[in-house]
Amino acid sequence: MKPAAGFGCTTLALLLLLPIAGTAQQPETQQQRAQSQPYNNAPVWREVRSGKEEYTSIKGRETGVLVQTYGETWRQLKNGWITPIAGWLIAAVVVVIGAFYKWRGSIKVHGEPSGRLIERFTPFERYTHWVVAISFVILGTSGLVLMLGKYVLLPVIGYTLFAWLAQLSKHLHNFVGPVFVVSLLMLIVIFLKDNLPRLYDIKWFANLGGMISGEHVPSGRFNAGEKVWFWIGVVVLSLIVSASGLVLLFPNFDQVRAVMIEANVVHMVSGGAVLAISLGHIYLGTIGLDGAYESMRNGYVDETWAREHHEYWYNDVKSGKVKAGTAMGQPGAPQAQH
Ligand code: HEM
Repeated sequence: MKPAAGFGCTTLALLLLLPIAGTAQQPETQQQRAQSQPYNNAPVWREVRSGKEEYTSIKGRETGVLVQTYGETWRQLKNGWITPIAGWLIAAVVVVIGAFYKWRGSIKVHGEPSGRLIERFTPFERYTHWVVAISFVILGTSGLVLMLGKYVLLPVIGYTLFAWLAQLSKHLHNFVGPVFVVSLLMLIVIFLKDNLPRLYDIKWFANLGGMISGEHVPSGRFNAGEKVWFWIGVVVLSLIVSASGLVLLFPNFDQVRAVMIEANVVHMVSGGAVLAISLGHIYLGTIGLDGAYESMRNGYVDETWAREHHEYWYNDVKSGKVKAGTAMGQPGAPQAQH
């Protein structure tokens, strides 16, 4: 039979380390126990598990804490709750979006294209958006590999490939994170004004933007659904995910382990939530709504598209209240599709 090497080594290490860390606070108790029940180290373990900082000659944050039981609470919370809930939530959103697409298909423009184009996004707005979007997709994919890979990929691709993929994901996550944070702040500033709530947004909510009924509901430059994405997904959740990510990325500010644990929990919860919500935005920005992707790709929309999807904004552009360029005279401007 194999000896219980793990337990033996840990106990030995503890007995060697305890006097150094000065953890044996109740020598009588341990002494008594050693006499009444030889080899029973329960009092020492209890003392160690208390997490109390004891004396050590090695100076540094928490060097006097031998065993930190908060870490076990974190492990259980992460593996038992956060990871499975986030994983199933994202899977459920994919299924709901897939079912919606099958039922509704791509939302089309009803009227004939006018052939006249209005500038919807300036090049600066578009570049900023795509830097945020591309870095977000890299962070989301690498984050999912790190969070779920052990359960979903490892059994399929094996240790060799998974180790390589996890390593790559970790590096991508670390280096792309700051790009996302900086571009996110710029994006928030750029789009803040047009995402301020307006009274007519209530009507949009009441009709769910006509997405179910197919009815035409007027809105400003951004509709109420986009505003929800902006305030909840982009501002609140993305800022929380960024701030907690920075705490994890730069552990050199003397954060104690509890702070790192809490930052990790906040990062995973907010990251899982923003990923799930972003799927709705990505769906509508690609296959869900005809013409939306082209508007962010090229910057221009047909007047009919603008009138049907963002009527108040269209009226403001036409009346000159809001400045927006037209494709006329712009070299390389995209042509309207008939
Ligand atoms: C692959 C990923 C993405 C795609 C395909 C995509 C696509 C689009 C498209 C097509 C629009 C224009 C919609 C319109 O004309 O009204 C748009 C707007 C916008 N996107 Fe994205 N996007 C992506 C990721 C992101 C991410 C990660 C963020 C932020 C974290 C973001 C933030 C925004 C914002 C703020 C707007 C302006 C509308 C609003 O304020 O809600 N996008 N996106």
